[in-house]
Amino acid sequence: MDKLMEQVQVRPVLKWAGGKGRLLPELMGRLPKCFARYHEPFVGGGALFFKLASRQQITQAAFSDINPALIEVYVALRDCVEEVIDILKQHYYDEAYYYTIRALDPAALSLPERAARVIFLNKTCYNGLYRENRSGQFNVPFGRYKNPTICDEPNLRAASALLQEVDLEQRHFATALDKAQPGDFVYFDPPYHPLSSTSNFTAYSRYGFSEQDQVQLRDTFAELTRRGVRAMLSNSSAPLIYDLYRPYAVHTVYAARAINSKAAARGKIAEVIVCNYDENGALLSD
Ligand SMILES: C[S@@+](CC[C@H](N)C(=O)[O-])C[C@H]1O[C@@H](n2cnc3c(N)ncnc32)[C@H](O)[C@@H]1O
Repeated sequence: MDKLMEQVQVRPVLKWAGGKGRLLPELMGRLPKCFARYHEPFVGGGALFFKLASRQQITQAAFSDINPALIEVYVALRDCVEEVIDILKQHYYDEAYYYTIRALDPAALSLPERAARVIFLNKTCYNGLYRENRSGQFNVPFGRYKNPTICDEPNLRAASALLQEVDLEQRHFATALDKAQPGDFVYFDPPYHPLSSTSNFTAYSRYGFSEQDQVQLRDTFAELTRRGVRAMLSNSSAPLIYDLYRPYAVHTVYAARAINSKAAARGKIAEVIVCNYDENGALLSD
């Protein structure tokens, strides 16, 4: 990363449900003092990655997500950003055009075309959601905006510069951390466990996230702890989460919600940040 990049705060390229923008100060304040490689196995919009990489607090990074269309956007930005920009510049905000692009078969498109399509749909769809039907087709309706920015060229180029040395993979979280070493740092931002049985907003992709997945994630967190890898995790303040992470440092924090379809439900709600290390950076054991 060259000197010119130092001053530029790169913003996430995609709006993402559960985007961590508003929780960033709380997360930043709890990072380990230093770490070798940064891992993010539920990358989504990558708010924390872009924040830290912009400040040159990351030297090596690997990130992954189960959503292949999302990972492809980052691969395309890393490997062919100018082609993505050229294609994205041809897209425009119009309802009929939106549905034409949404109906395209991604398999018939090139990598930069697929990435530009996902960015375009993300900037112009309802609430920036990513939702697919059972056969994997993106099915979010058109969104109403004043004048959405579809192609933010400087930010896309700056994001591309930060992604140059990053390992990107489409993976389930359980297989994403085989290479994590003692001294590395992992940030987990899984789909939040619902606070009640009626709030079931966990369908980020066709893969849901069940209570069993939360337990498997805790097991991964515990295994990393035993391997000497520092880890931080954000989740909802559901009783299950306090229960699962009892041996670790569980901090309750308050942040405004980024995406919520019910305006009345906007506002501050409790979330938790779990660390497997104390304020001095010492690893906690289970
Ligand atoms: C809360 S979002 C992450 C938001 C991100 N931190 C941000 O700032 O935008 C959760 C992500 O987990 C991914 N995901 C869901 N199930 C997964 C699994 N089993 N393994 C890996 N990623 C998964 C989703 O595709 C989604 O991108």
